[in-house]
Amino acid sequence: MAKRRRLFRNIGECLTLAGAAVKEARRATEADLGIVRKAAILEEAGRIVWVGPEARLPKGLGAAGAREVDLEGHVVMPALVECHTHLVFAGHRADEFELRNRGATYQEIAAKGGGILATVKPTRKASLEELSRSAQARADVFVRQGVATIESKSGYALTTAGEMKMLAAAGRIRGPRVVRTYLGPHAIPPEAESAGAYLERVISTDLPRVKAEGAAHRVDIFVEEGYFPEPLARRYLEAARRLGFELAVHADQLTRSGGARLAVEFGARSAEHLIRIDDDDVRALAGSETTSVLLPAADLYLRCPYPPARALLDAGARVAIATDFNPGSSPTQSVSLVGVLSRLEMKMTLPETIVAYTLGGAYALGLGGELGALTAGRSCDLAVLGSGWPDLFYSVGEMPIVQVWRGGARLNRRSSAN
Ligand code: NIG
Ligand code: FE
Repeated sequence: MAKRRRLFRNIGECLTLAGAAVKEARRATEADLGIVRKAAILEEAGRIVWVGPEARLPKGLGAAGAREVDLEGHVVMPALVECHTHLVFAGHRADEFELRNRGATYQEIAAKGGGILATVKPTRKASLEELSRSAQARADVFVRQGVATIESKSGYALTTAGEMKMLAAAGRIRGPRVVRTYLGPHAIPPEAESAGAYLERVISTDLPRVKAEGAAHRVDIFVEEGYFPEPLARRYLEAARRLGFELAVHADQLTRSGGARLAVEFGARSAEHLIRIDDDDVRALAGSETTSVLLPAADLYLRCPYPPARALLDAGARVAIATDFNPGSSPTQSVSLVGVLSRLEMKMTLPETIVAYTLGGAYALGLGGELGALTAGRSCDLAVLGSGWPDLFYSVGEMPIVQVWRGGARLNRRSSAN
C-alpha cells in the first residue's frame, strides 16, 4: 500500500532551524533559524522527506501524488515542545498564592502540610477518568498555543498504585505526543517514616513496576533539602540507571542542592530549574550533554531569582524553556508568558527563545534527533503562524497560532488561540 504523503505548500517563510539542528541547539543565532522563503515541505507517513524553496521541489520524490495543503503564505515553524509539566493533578492551591503574597514562603507553606502534599490528597481521591479528563483539557490548552509534544510528570500520589494511575491518565491523552515521566520522589508522603524509607520503597517497588508496565521511560527526582537531599538522590539515580531509565532532575531550585552536578555526573537528559547554580555548575552543564531546562514562570510565582540563562547560553549550554505548569509554584499554562520572561528577565534573544522552546525541549526529552526542527527525517510537527515570527513571545497571552500538526496530522481542528 502506498504511504500517505502530504505537500505543505505556499509557505511564506519556513523556520527550519536547520542551523540549530547542526549545532545541536547550542549557541543559536538568527542564521541558525534556517529561514526559507516561499517554501514547501513534503511529508510521508508522518516524517519530513524534503524542505526547501517550492520552486526547487525535486521531481521524482512523489510530490505529484501527495495531498496538497495550501498554507496561504503563512509562516511555519517546528511545533513547540513543552518539556516540563505536572499536567495530571486534582484540586487547586489558589489559597497558597494568597498566603505567599502575604509573606509566607513556599517552604513554610509546605512545612504546614501545604505545597505538594496539598495536591496529593485530592489526587489520591480522584479516579483515573477524572484525572484523564482534566489532563486532556489542559493538553488541549497547550496545543492551541502551538505545542505538539508535552511532558507529563507523576508525583502527586506518592503510592505505587496512585503514581501508576497518574501515568495511566497521561497515557490516555489524545492529540499531542505525551512523554511520561515518573516522579515518585517529589515529596515525602505523610505516612512514610522518613525520606529514606519512602525512597527504598520507590526503588524496590515503583521503579520495577513502572519499567515492567512501560508506564514511563524516564524518571525525575526533586533534589532539595527537606525533600530528597543529594545522598538519597544518588541512590535513586543509580537504581534508575541500572533499570535503563532516562533521567531528569529537579535541581538547585530553592537551595544549591547539588542537583545540577548529579545530573551531569549521571548523564541525565535534563537538569531543571537551576536557579541557585554557580559558575562551576554552569561550566559543568555547558560541557555536558545534559539540557538545562529553565522555568521562569515558576520563578515569577515564587518570586525567586531567575536562573543564569545568559551565562549558560554564552558558555555553550543547551537550554530549554517550559511552563512547569502545576497547581502550586507555576499555575499557568501560558507559553507566551514563559517566552516573554525568557527574553525580558533572562535576557535571551528571540532566536535563542525559539530554539529553546522547540529543539532545546526536544533534547531535554531525548528526542533531539526526532523533533524540534524541520529537516528531512524528523517528525512533521508544525506550528503555522498567523503573523510574522518576530511577533512570537512579545505579547503575554497571545500566541499567533492558526494550525498545529503532529506527524503530518492536524491537531487543532477547531480554533486558533492565545
Ligand atoms: O517544579 N519543585 C518541585 N516541584 C514543582 C512544584 C510542585 C508543586 O508545588 O506542586 C516545581 O516547581
Ligand atoms: Fe516541576
